[in-house]
Amino acid sequence: MNAPDAVGVVTKSILKTALASLGLAPGDVVAFHTSLSAFGHIENGADTVIDAILETIGPSGTTLAPTLTFDERWGPECPPVFDVRRTPSVTGRTPEVFRLRPDAVRSLHPTHSWAAIGPRARELTTGHEDSATPCGPESPLGRLARDPRGKILLAGVTLKSCTFFHHCEEVAGVPYHLQKRPTHVVMTDTTGAVIERDLYLHCWHGLALDFTKPEADLLRLGVMKKAFLIHAPLSLLNASRTAEFIIDKLRRNEEYFKTQELC
Ligand SMILES: CC(C)(COP(=O)(O)OP(=O)(O)OC[C@H]1O[C@@H](n2cnc3c(N)ncnc32)[C@H](O)[C@@H]1OP(=O)(O)O)[C@@H](O)C(=O)NCCC(=O)NCCS
Repeated sequence: MNAPDAVGVVTKSILKTALASLGLAPGDVVAFHTSLSAFGHIENGADTVIDAILETIGPSGTTLAPTLTFDERWGPECPPVFDVRRTPSVTGRTPEVFRLRPDAVRSLHPTHSWAAIGPRARELTTGHEDSATPCGPESPLGRLARDPRGKILLAGVTLKSCTFFHHCEEVAGVPYHLQKRPTHVVMTDTTGAVIERDLYLHCWHGLALDFTKPEADLLRLGVMKKAFLIHAPLSLLNASRTAEFIIDKLRRNEEYFKTQELC
């Protein structure tokens, strides 16, 4: 894999080379999770990461950024309020810079919204508010799972950040991922219209989970490819094959991800 330049700065071209060598290709639909600081110094920070992804997948590709907004207190007695234009995400600087780009389209969901850029951005994000659960089949992640070009990029982070596993948990019907009662949520869309829905939110007080557990198997099966840039891990997963593997594991054992330690 390409090394950073002599003064240790990661440039866009270094990142692009690294992404391409992992298998990210023109026309892909890719959801990413990031940590900027894991790379030491990235020239121009978040914009470089975003541009490296957009340029690697080209104009026919679509990128999804996690613009999640959660608070462990949220539930029927403490409902979230969400404005798709203004509510900041809590998943790092890169998704936040991404969602504020003029061509980004953000899905309407009080906790698990995704922003997208690319020709399939609307198709992937539309109607998230009508999905009763955060990561179901008609959420952006559900649509990613069905896309033969769907991929997940972990840049500077590990499988601990892989929200896609919650989609797998939903499909497998594990009992711990969702709150038992729906929450009445009030959201504001891009036009300023108020949208109200009764949604099942993620349960933040469920099992302690270890999402890194499947890494060795996913690597062995070629579903996941991993490399390092500086000391930062860079991984790319095939979304549909990941879903197939994880859903099967969870159907055999709904506590597959369970760990004694908090992660
Ligand atoms: C929480 C998390 C975002 C923290 O990572 P991080 O690298 O500290 O934060 P960011 O990616 O937001 O990058 C900003 C930080 O990078 C550093 N930074 C700033 N500019 C930088 C640059 N040009 N190059 C490298 N690092 C830089 C700074 O430390 C900055 O922190 P500051 O804003 O407090 O000064 C990360 O660990 C993580 O979990 N990412 C995945 C989140 C996610 O998608 N979760 C989904 C499941 S819940």
